[in-house]
This record gives sequence, C-alpha cells and structure tokens, in this order.
Amino acid sequence: MSSEETINEVLKAENPEKIMEKMEPFRKMMLQYHCASMEVETKIRVLNEEFKNNFQRNPIETIKSRIKTPFAIVEKMKRKGLELTLENIEENLTDIAGIRVICSFPEDIYNVAQMIEKQDDIRIIKRKDYIQNPKPNGYRSLHLILEVPVFFTEGKKMMKVEVQFRTIAMDFWASLEHKLAYKKDVENYDSISRELKNCAEITSSLDYRMQEIRNQIEQKIE
Ligand code: GTP
Ligand code: MG
Repeated sequence: MSSEETINEVLKAENPEKIMEKMEPFRKMMLQYHCASMEVETKIRVLNEEFKNNFQRNPIETIKSRIKTPFAIVEKMKRKGLELTLENIEENLTDIAGIRVICSFPEDIYNVAQMIEKQDDIRIIKRKDYIQNPKPNGYRSLHLILEVPVFFTEGKKMMKVEVQFRTIAMDFWASLEHKLAYKKDVENYDSISRELKNCAEITSSLDYRMQEIRNQIEQKIE
C-alpha cells in the first residue's frame, strides 16, 4: 500500500476532525524541532560571522538544515521496533532536526565543533568522529548529537539536534556514496564500493594537502 493509500484508509476509518485533533500534538512536536534547528543554526552562523571578522575568512562554506519527514520518522520507529508515541519518538530519535555544516578544511571543522561543544547551554549527548575513525566504506564526518534549550510560550524545553560537520570533499563523496546505498542490487556493487573507498582516501589526502597549503599561505606553520 502506498503512503497516500494508507492516509486515505485512515481518513475513511475515523472522523476527520478527530484525526486532526490527534495530529495536533505531532505538529507541535515538529514545530519544536524546527525551532531547535533554528537555534543551533544561529549559534553556528554567529561563530562564522565572528570568525570572518577576526580572521578575514569563512570557516564555513554552507549550512543545510532539514527536518525528518513524518514518513521517515514512522519508518525509523518501526525499524527500531518501538511503539509510535510522542515520548518514544523524542526519547529515541536523535536526528529529527539535522544540520549539516560544510567547511573548507578539516581544521575548521574541529574549531567550529569545539566552540559549539564549549557553549554552556549545550549538552553533548554523543560525539562520533568518523574523520579520525572513518567508517569501513570510507565515510568521513564529525557527528554531534546535542541538546539545546529552546524557550517556548510554555517554558524551556531541551531539544535534540544532530549536527554533521564535513569538508566540501567529504560532502561530495557522501552524496555520491548515498546513491549507492539504495542500489544494493547493482551488478558491480563490490567493485563500485572498492572504488568509492579508494576515492574517500584520495579526497582525505587532498583535504589535508590543501589545508597545509592554506596554512603556508597564511604563515601559521607551528
Ligand atoms: P542512522 O540511523 O542512519 O541515523 O545512523 P546511526 O544512528 O548509526 O548514526 P550515524 O551517526 O552513523 O549516521 C547518522 C547519519 O550520518 C546518517 O543518517 C547519514 O546522514 C550519515 N551517514 C552515516 N554513515 C554514512 C555513510 O556511510 N554514507 C553516507 N552517505 N552517509 C552516512
Ligand atoms: Mg539519520
């Protein structure tokens, strides 16, 4: 059954007003995640502005934010074998609000991430450094799961946000690799995987060589 058919079934099964009433708390939760994402995005933009002013360069190339779709939330809850309640969603899903911070150089990633980690209203729940410890497929990025206080009309609420830090090259690699993730049945899957892993190593070495050049230009060799 397609998701549209499922929705139609649900709409037929119950009084539509009742369904809208039930949906309201879910809509409220999604709005709260959107606000949490705005809070963290602002924190990152503030750091970028200040950095620009102090060092005459941008540590951040792009910031992309996304909120998980209701469909993907339901899918993930099913995959985890959890009952679909708001409390369960908030407790177990840490990536409903997601921010991707794309930097030019690996050093910038660690500088910006550290400044976020040090902020005293932020609580770090998890830190996964796939740059120091790349995934077996070659994936590299620094992931932070953090909790940030957001002030709503009803008071303060701690909200979870996932932040992924990558270089431009790591992001380029990850978008190509992402395409393979949905094509497990592709004929030459193994050789593509090997080639991708090889490309990850080349891009990583390029990241550090370019960083070295940047540092030499800026004459900040320690
Ligand atoms: P998810 O259930 O997918 O969120 O993974 P996880 O809970 O094991 O967390 P992890 O930190 O490993 O991955 C979180 C997110 O990072 C994913 O949803 C992707 O956006 C990204 N990611 C992780 N691994 C890979 C990878 O191998 N390739 C690509 N393209 N992206 C990845
Ligand atoms: Mg995820």
